Amino acid sequence: MKRERCGELREKDVGRRVTLAGWVQAVRDFGSLTFVDLRDSSGIVQLVFRGNEKARELGREDVIKVSGMVVRRESPNPVLPTGTVEVAVEELEILAKSKPLPFLPDEEVRASDETRLRFRFLDLRRPRMQKNLRLRHKVAMAIREYLDAHGFIEVETPMLTRSTPEGARDFLVPSRLEPGKFYALPQSPQLFKQILVCSGVERYFQIVRCFRDEDLRADRQPEFTQLDLEMAFLEDPEELFSLLEGLVSHVFRKVLGVEIATPFPRIPYAEAMARYGSDKPDLRFGMELLDLTDLFWGTDFRVFSEAVARGEVIRALPVPGGAKKSRTELLKLEEIAKSFGVGGLLWAKREETITSPFLKHVGEGVLAGAMSRAGLNFGDLLLLAAGPEKAVSQALGELRLRLARELGLIPEDVWAFAWIVDFPLFKVGENGRLESEHHPFTSPKDEDLPYLESDPLRVRAKCYDLVLNGVELASGSIRIHRRDLQERVFKILGIGPEEAERRFGFFLRALEYGAPPHGGIAFGLDRWVMMLAGESSIREVIAFPKTATGACPLTGAPAEVDEAQLRELHIKLDL
Ligand code: AMO
Repeated sequence: MKRERCGELREKDVGRRVTLAGWVQAVRDFGSLTFVDLRDSSGIVQLVFRGNEKARELGREDVIKVSGMVVRRESPNPVLPTGTVEVAVEELEILAKSKPLPFLPDEEVRASDETRLRFRFLDLRRPRMQKNLRLRHKVAMAIREYLDAHGFIEVETPMLTRSTPEGARDFLVPSRLEPGKFYALPQSPQLFKQILVCSGVERYFQIVRCFRDEDLRADRQPEFTQLDLEMAFLEDPEELFSLLEGLVSHVFRKVLGVEIATPFPRIPYAEAMARYGSDKPDLRFGMELLDLTDLFWGTDFRVFSEAVARGEVIRALPVPGGAKKSRTELLKLEEIAKSFGVGGLLWAKREETITSPFLKHVGEGVLAGAMSRAGLNFGDLLLLAAGPEKAVSQALGELRLRLARELGLIPEDVWAFAWIVDFPLFKVGENGRLESEHHPFTSPKDEDLPYLESDPLRVRAKCYDLVLNGVELASGSIRIHRRDLQERVFKILGIGPEEAERRFGFFLRALEYGAPPHGGIAFGLDRWVMMLAGESSIREVIAFPKTATGACPLTGAPAEVDEAQLRELHIKLDL
């Protein structure tokens, strides 16, 4: 269709005859004069109809085509970029009428998430959603531009494949040609990208869909997109860090016009846990946790002395301006802390004097010492917890985030990146068995190799996360590239040679024919775009996301299938 773009008309176009097409944004009818705002993806322009009966019947979201003269507007609209002109319509063609709308595709929609997703084609017409789609496209373009310039090539990997152990449940696809057998949708291209590196693709990347059947949250979808990459001859993560700091800076510059300061801080996992109570610390604000075990262990206060005797720790969270928290609010915070497995939460406020329910147990001197060590002043609050190190850190880490949010201590427009390094290689799983902290292909640190069998929990991994404003943006590692070490790690994970061969034989073989040292990372692209767009859920930056129960209200998926289809697959339902 030969047409011009609504949002591009300006005063220089006055006197030109133009043809436009788009959606009806608004109709203002004054009898002999009808004004219509016409919208296409470039913006909005005002149309004016004189004595046109058809125009009076136009409704919101009808699709029309018009031709007419661009004229100067009598009363310009300073809000619209096209606000100084309008189009005096001579010809109107109605291309498609719209039914009455379930909700207006305007900025402030008042529709449930279910309705928004069911009518996603309307929801996506909102300027904010259009902006998000465009931003996502720009991010992908900037990524490809940077990686191409750095010698990476994009290679696609299969969607119908075998299970990859990323720790979630698989989505399975039954095979018709081999009854009783199933493909798994990839949780990530992890093994394929390692095989590609073994195949001589020295710098691989892919913007790729991943599938994980896990409980959904604001930053999790059952199918999501990774920027996945892998490099041959990567031994020192620092090489990858500086390459990726360049990538991140390039994307921020291209998409937001923002300069990001590099290098990003590197924080060992143990330090992140001790200082922020989290392996994805939000570094936009302070409120660092303090270890006060040495200060309190000698006091008569049994809660503390007994905890220390059990080898536990006493840690504190300083809360600037927190003294105004009421007893009820503090009790609520204690409930949260308890859900992490700490026995209780103690507090001390610094006002005219120091007030605290356990003041008489430990004495004012000790509390004053704790307060000044935490740098606290009049009007501030100190929260204390005693218990096992991990539980105490995580509990205080959670309170740190909540209180900073509640007290407005988190600055806007700050991009606080950090590399978290030196994660443990293993963790104790729910069944008490050792599991990989990241995935089983992560290399142990060379200096910790001697403890691999004797003290596995002490072994640190060549593994790293990129964290931005408290969100895990990316995660990766230097991989094991020798079969013997891979087998040792499998053994510790309780994966015997037969199971290893059955599940990963295809991959282990690739390690036997000349595998270069290698490593890589994967970014959660949806999370990254979400943050760039200033959204708080990845659903706002995915064109067709799923609801919290994994459903797609637009298509009605997941749905029943025909009996005949099941028969072909030799599947009988047992519901
Ligand atoms: P990992 O499992 O940590 O690593 O995933 C990498 C990044 O992907 C994002 N992410 C998700 N985003 C949305 N919804 C989900 N359900 C979801 N799950 C993960 C996160 C995360 O940091 N193969 C390894 C990477 C590697 O070692 O190279 C992997 O997939 O932002």
